[in-house]
Amino acid sequence: MISSHSPLKPNAVIGIVGGGQLGRMSAIAAARLGFRTHILTTEANGPAAQVSHAVTCGKYDDPAALDAFASAVDVVTFEFENISADALDLLATHCPVHPSGHILRISQDRLAEKTFFASAGIPLAPWHAVTDIKTLHEAAEKVSLPLILKTTRNGYDGKGQRRVHHIHDLEDAFNALAPHPLVAEGMVDFACEISVMVVRSADGTVRCFDPALNRHWNGILDLTLAPAPIDPNIAAQAVKLATTIAEKLELVGILGVEMFVDRTGNLLVNEMAPRPHNSGHWTMNACPQDQFDMHIRAVAGLPLPHAVRHSDAIMKNLVGPEDMALLPQIMATQGFIPHLYGKKEARVGRKMGHVNILFPYSALPGDLGIQDALGPLATKTAAPEPEENSAAS
Ligand SMILES: Nc1ncnc2c1ncn2[C@@H]1O[C@H](COP(=O)(O)OP(=O)(O)O)[C@@H](O)[C@H]1O
Ligand SMILES: [Mg+2]
Repeated sequence: MISSHSPLKPNAVIGIVGGGQLGRMSAIAAARLGFRTHILTTEANGPAAQVSHAVTCGKYDDPAALDAFASAVDVVTFEFENISADALDLLATHCPVHPSGHILRISQDRLAEKTFFASAGIPLAPWHAVTDIKTLHEAAEKVSLPLILKTTRNGYDGKGQRRVHHIHDLEDAFNALAPHPLVAEGMVDFACEISVMVVRSADGTVRCFDPALNRHWNGILDLTLAPAPIDPNIAAQAVKLATTIAEKLELVGILGVEMFVDRTGNLLVNEMAPRPHNSGHWTMNACPQDQFDMHIRAVAGLPLPHAVRHSDAIMKNLVGPEDMALLPQIMATQGFIPHLYGKKEARVGRKMGHVNILFPYSALPGDLGIQDALGPLATKTAAPEPEENSAAS
């Protein structure tokens, strides 16, 4: 028997802060479980609002909008991290908020996040806080070159980062990034990048989906392979790290943990996101209960079943006008399971949807088979380094 924790009743209203695709897929999962959803968004007819029963349109720091939203919902969660943790705290005076503002505060700031990871014994690449030219040079000495300078806040899809290979480029990189402070990280010569989706309920039950392998293109997630084709001992270690993080944070809800596997098979945690995650979209078709079902269950106080995988899967993101131009072929390809986000305009670099492709359990093919399975989407081979990304906009 799986135990429950004062669950929400059918037809209760789950408030979701943020109106993008993660909110959309969370709302669909909530509807499957018999709940209603109410979206707080700046965009009246965005991806989440289109599939929810109510919308409050307003700014995330507008007390009137926050009040109206909070008074209409039974519990609050969020689908993106650009709401202020203070606003979440304000919402928490009206109803439960999962995950908590405390967790959001940590995940919003790379320095707070690294400090938390270090205190929890989580292995990290060498890092150093950079506040000025003096600490910049200290950082270069401490983490050594090559390094990556990152803004501590508001980075996403590789934005807000500069790679530094030569000492004479150090100050230019520092000056190009804003706002300060920054964090310097030693560049990890990784064999691959993996992620683990971990869910925890208020009663302390923790479930992890199988680690998946992620490949990026221009700093944006391109492909996820599930399960990650890595040594089972490394996969087990990754699950252990994600579990430790969820437990130390007293997480309620879902959280994605990104990790590097270095050339010697060591794991280094890169970052975390306390919300459903793009690298967990494969679960939508390869698992009886996907990341969104599990997240909504945790938020609603429902029992958490085991995060079982019944199939292997490839998840391919559909990004920008190039991928959307292939929509007729995508829709016509046998075996493609498309998920579209309802965005009107396919701007360059914008995530428009994704395609899942399933394989029998334990039958994920190698690279050639993957390219073959991708059919009309098999266009990208090697990911260029995102050298030119400047500060987040
Ligand atoms: N210390 C590092 N060493 C090597 N590659 C890194 C390092 N930090 C980031 N990267 C690369 O840049 C990508 C984006 O960095 P990340 O810190 O995950 O920022 P974002 O918030 O944009 O996802 C990572 O997925 C990885 O490919
Ligand atoms: Mg990342």
